[in-house]
Amino acid sequence: MSARLAGRRVLLVIGGGIAAYKALELIRLIRKEGGAVRAVITAGGEKFVTPLSVQALCEDRVHTDLFSLTGESEMGHIQLSRSADLVVVAPASADLLAKMAAGMADDLATTLLLATDKEVLVAPAMNVRMWTHPATVANLETLLRRGVSVVGPEEGPMACGEFGPGRLAEPAAILEAIVARLDGERILAGRHVVVTSGPTHEPIDPVRYIANRSSGRQGHAIAAALARRGARVTLVSGPVALADPAGVAVVRVETALEMRAAVLAALPADAAVFCAAVADWRVEAQGRKIKKTGAPPALALVENPDILAEVSRLEGRRPRLVVGFAAETGDLVAQATAKRARKGCDWIVANDVGAGTGIMGGAENEVVLITEAGAEPWPRAGKDAVADRLAERISGIFQ
Ligand code: CTP
Repeated sequence: MSARLAGRRVLLVIGGGIAAYKALELIRLIRKEGGAVRAVITAGGEKFVTPLSVQALCEDRVHTDLFSLTGESEMGHIQLSRSADLVVVAPASADLLAKMAAGMADDLATTLLLATDKEVLVAPAMNVRMWTHPATVANLETLLRRGVSVVGPEEGPMACGEFGPGRLAEPAAILEAIVARLDGERILAGRHVVVTSGPTHEPIDPVRYIANRSSGRQGHAIAAALARRGARVTLVSGPVALADPAGVAVVRVETALEMRAAVLAALPADAAVFCAAVADWRVEAQGRKIKKTGAPPALALVENPDILAEVSRLEGRRPRLVVGFAAETGDLVAQATAKRARKGCDWIVANDVGAGTGIMGGAENEVVLITEAGAEPWPRAGKDAVADRLAERISGIFQ
């Protein structure tokens, strides 16, 4: 049996909502990994699961009341938050997220969330309209900025009969996000890393766009590998068909201009890894669908800003380590070395994306790391393994 959470203590806040029943399965999974769980249930949560069933699974008293310090064995909100390695809120209702964002403290759960100095992971669950409401979106942004990490929600049919994002992440996915925060050597704890991933889509008109073959697999794997080492990761992703990596804050964008804005908004960061295949050009704004009129249309292209070069040259706000990627089809090392100098970044991860390599969009990667010291070829490996190796090298800088 694996015990990836051996000796780790999770303080689980169970909010109100039909998904609260999944918290029971989550407790079981955490314990199976060797972790200890102490639980707090909100008044709303108690409507959906009973303290007795939670207590039976935790083998510990369940905490529900802010003002119930009756005996020696009882714990106050400060003590509760100190006794954990990680605070997990699952399900996190819209109401609970709003209270967290506003810094309210009107019950045990919100008071300990305000009092804690530990990392907080939230697993939101709510009706799709509540999830997409600007108030919830703003509250979540506030929490992400403060370093709270998020897992889910997932998309699918919901208990309320609607369909869309808002469903609590599966307990197994929440477990992985917990493991990502607590397992292994957390060398990057307290560090913020921005990662770009995937392609960009540049609209030609309201129905067509220019894209490229990037799948986002490498960038997403890097984000996950950095999060496993304890970093707070902001992943700015173009359109991809991938699940969000556990414990990573994902900002979704479409165009190069949106990606640039999201990256700049995510700074400051200790490191930035630019893995996205950003379109070099965009089409001059076309408000209306281009019609067939006989002659094919001439698309007027405008150069997009180079996000990597811009961040590499930022004054004052430049991350300590800036890593670029170079997709080449010619003399790999010579071109990537020149690109490193041209862009002003610290490292370039260069790969040959020639037609026969199967790298662009594939599961494997074969890269050469270009640093100040020269070129270092890495053996062909799965994109997860390449990501781990890169995260390890990045960790070395911050040790
Ligand atoms: N990049 C970026 N913004 C752009 C273009 C590229 O941030 N507008 C980043 C990519 O994320 C990657 C690196 O720059 O880390 C190199 O991308 P690549 O497409 O290989 O380089 P280009 O600058 O486009 O150079 P060229 O196409 O001439 O080889």
